[in-house]
Parts: sequence; structure tokens; C-alpha cells
Amino acid sequence: MEPILQVKNISKSFPGVEALTNISIDFYPGEVHALVGENGAGKSTLIKIISGVYIPTRGQVILNGKEMNFKNPRQALDEGISVIHQELSIANDLTVAENIFLGAEPVQKNGLLDRKTMNRDAQEVLDFMKLELKATDLARELSAAQQQMVEIAKVITKKSKIVVMDEPTSSLSEHEINALFKQIKILKEKNVAIIYITHRLKELFEICERVTVLRDGCHIKTRMVKDVTEGEIVASMVGREIGNFYNRKRHTQGKEMLRVEGLTRKKAFKDISFKAFAGEILGISGLVGAGRTEVMEAVFGETKFDEGKILIEGKEVKITSPREAIAHNIGLVTEDRRKTGLMLDAMIKENIVLPSLTKHRKKGGFLDKNWEKKVSTEYMDKLKIKAPDIYTILNTLSGGNQQKVILAKWLIAESKILILDEPTRGIDVNAKSEFYSLMNDFVKKGGCIIMVSSELPEIIGVSDRVLVMREGRISGELSREEATEQSIIQLASVHS
Ligand SMILES: Nc1ncnc2c1ncn2[C@@H]1O[C@H](COP(=O)(O)OP(=O)(O)OP(=O)(O)O)[C@@H](O)[C@H]1O
Ligand SMILES: [Mg+2]
Repeated sequence: MEPILQVKNISKSFPGVEALTNISIDFYPGEVHALVGENGAGKSTLIKIISGVYIPTRGQVILNGKEMNFKNPRQALDEGISVIHQELSIANDLTVAENIFLGAEPVQKNGLLDRKTMNRDAQEVLDFMKLELKATDLARELSAAQQQMVEIAKVITKKSKIVVMDEPTSSLSEHEINALFKQIKILKEKNVAIIYITHRLKELFEICERVTVLRDGCHIKTRMVKDVTEGEIVASMVGREIGNFYNRKRHTQGKEMLRVEGLTRKKAFKDISFKAFAGEILGISGLVGAGRTEVMEAVFGETKFDEGKILIEGKEVKITSPREAIAHNIGLVTEDRRKTGLMLDAMIKENIVLPSLTKHRKKGGFLDKNWEKKVSTEYMDKLKIKAPDIYTILNTLSGGNQQKVILAKWLIAESKILILDEPTRGIDVNAKSEFYSLMNDFVKKGGCIIMVSSELPEIIGVSDRVLVMREGRISGELSREEATEQSIIQLASVHS
């Protein structure tokens, strides 16, 4: 079989960083080819070169035997190369149909937009994909998963030959992932070549034929998926075997830090009561949509609730904004990087110290610069944030490394109660393991962690106690010993 797409001896440098060094890979039609590697390994950079976003410093992109010299994404698109990027690029103010046909809108004889045809064709694709969406829905009203599906609908109507997906499943629920995989299989049957980036290695074995491992911008290996094991892939990503992955420790429960009583918000959650203690990691499990994030946002003051109360260290408090939550020593890490207030145009160090500013002022009100330098260097190292130095501007960091900055910032903030909502999404295996060990240090020093996670192995691997939510209510509590995949699924699933 002839490759449809080849990259040959590709290198790419940014000021101070060699993101890719001499990469050569062949991609075949009708195959899903996975690209894996740690945060900052160069995965997104490579696909940005393939799709005309970046021009390589050296090397060639060859399509059907012909060398391409893409100057912009438009040119790549015209040759049938479509990309679904890591950060969704949907236009919020446009309808679903307008997004699907963006830049390729059907026109009438008089040159005006043919809205009727556009809506009809878009609806046809949506129906074909079995999505419960209307062509005329506004994009801003869709969930992240639905937006993702619209991007795929776009790819299908373009009749792309090559489809690149950069971490498409990172914010999808199990159910939505299955829907996505079905679409991928359909693309595969149409002989489309798919390049698939993921940190969830089990997906390799579900839908990928071939896998390439990148490390520090270098090509480590390409293999048929059927010939490798997950352990081998991890070892070549990280350069070593990871032994004690969860760094699981037994903690001693201290005093009550947070108590939530009868918290209720109409249509979101009902009668939520629980306690969280110093020295413990409290896991919150449940299906996507069970109301876990909504409860955490209410505790953090991001949203209001209708009934109930919140007590910190036994005293009732009124938290009506994140600012007040922070003043009560609560920190919140969420999966959504844009929502958690990263300053993308500022340096790593400025982002890292942001929530700690008031605590580390010197006389005269200026930030203690020595402290700033010390902690940011220390945490860059601990979390293996890949960047030239602490002065690097955030938007030049890879997606996963931006997420690590969020983790660092709240670990440093000396919060007493740390709420983590899907904290390790998009983070590579090695950094995950480091992060679990930092979580352990945090609770050992008397901190309290509440972690929402949809990944059962993660919940089971790190929690001292697990609460399970189902349809807006707490459906059960499990001790560390009782918490197994089976017992959690039992409590999380909807019984009819
Ligand atoms: N525009 C840019 N300017 C400077 N450096 C950049 C730029 N884009 C990427 N880099 C650097 O290139 C390297 C590779 O980044 P890339 O985004 O390709 O990683 P990745 O493998 O996609 O990681 P992740 O899994 O975290 O998404 C990183 O060190 C990153 O900081
Ligand atoms: Mg990336």
C-alpha cells in the first residue's frame, strides 16, 4: 500500500526551543495513526506543519507523492487535509450550519448565500451522524462534546482525505467517545487517513492501526498497534518504566475542613451533604452530567445555590464569589483552561504566583521577587513543565504544560481545601504520576483535597474515600477498601 501522506526529515525551531528534530513518518489511507508522547513532545507542532499552520524549518510534506509547500491552513484544506485542533475553534455566534460550511457556503445564482440549501445539507450530515442537533442551533448553546461533533461534521462535508484530531476525547463522556469512535470507523471505511493524538493509551487498542511515539521532538518508533503493549508504549514515551504510578499512600484523617449541608440548585443538584477532612483525598465519581462540577462550582462561589449551607472548619460561611472562596483558603483547578483564568499573554512565573500575591507581599506592598523566582523554578521542575524558563510566555506552551501551570499555581497558593475537577486531563502519564505524589504531600501537610474525576482507575488509585453522584444527588459513599470499578459503576448508573 502506498502512503497518502509523508513527512520527511521535518524539523521545527522556535526561539529557544527545537520542537521537532528530523521527523519522518508515513501515513496510510483507511488507517488511524496515533501520535503519542509526553506534554511538549511536539505532537501538536507536527500536525500544525502538516496542516499549514506552521512552516517547517527544514523538511518536506509529501501528499500523494507530490511535495507540498503550504503557506497557510487554507491551502492544506484545499488539498483535503482537515484538522480538529486541541483548543476548539468553533465560532460561537454562528449557527451549526454556518460553522459546518464556514468558508465554503453554498451560494445562489445571484451570488447571495443560499441559506436554505446550507441548512438542508447541514441537517443531512447531522442526521447521518445521528446527532440530536438542529442546523439552526447557535454554536454557543452547545456542550463541548456537541461542538466537537460539529467540527467532525465539518470534516465529513469537506470530504477530507486526511483528518487530524488533536486530543478529541479529552472533554467527552464515555457515551460521546463511543459516538466519536463510530464516526471514525465510518471515515476509515471511506479510506480517509486519520492522525489521532491522545494521552489515553487504551484508545490506541480500540481504534488505531499504527502508533508513533515522539519524545523531546524526536521520532522514537512507529509500530503496528497489534504488535505492542501499553507498557512498551509508556516506556518509550517516558524513557523509563513507571513503577508506583499512583504513589498511593495511607493518610490520617484530621479535623473537619469543609461541610456541605443540603445544598440544592434547581435542575442541577439536590440535597447534597458531605464532609471533607484535613489529611484526606475525597474522590467524587459519577457519570459526566451527574452534577459533580455544578456542586464544586457552587462551593467555590462561581455559581449560586438555592438552598443549603457551607461550613468551613465548623463555621458557616457565605461564599458568593471565587474571591471569597480564595479568602477562605479554597482553590479550584478545572479541566477547562480558558475558564480558570490563565493569563495566556503573561509569563509562567506571573501565572504561578497569581493567587498567592497577597500572601507574599514585602513591606511597601511589592511582591517578594526572590520568593516568586524560587517557587516558580521549584514547581516548574517538580511538575516537569517543559519550557525554556520561568519567563516564558504561557501561550507558547503545549496544552498539557499550560494545565501543569494551573496545578502549580494552586499547589503554591497554600490553599487548605483544594478542589480538583478532572485535573489530569491532557496531562501525560509521567506528569500524572508526579502530580499524584504532590497531592499526597499536600494532604500529608494537613491539606484537604476533593477530586472530581471520570477516570475510575484514577479515583480508585488516589482516593481515601469516594462519593458517587447520580442525577444530581449523592448515591453512595465508599471507603477506600470498598471502592472498586464495579461498586462505583453500580452507584453511578441510572437504574430504571
Ligand atoms: N508558538 C510557539 N512558540 C514557542 N514555542 C512553541 C510554540 N509552539 C510550541 N512550542 C514549543 O514546542 C514544544 C512542543 O510543543 P507541542 O505543542 O507540539 O507539544 P505537544 O506534544 O502537543 O504537547 P501536549 O501533549 O501538552 O499538547 C514545546 O516545548 C512548546 O513549548
Ligand atoms: Mg498538543
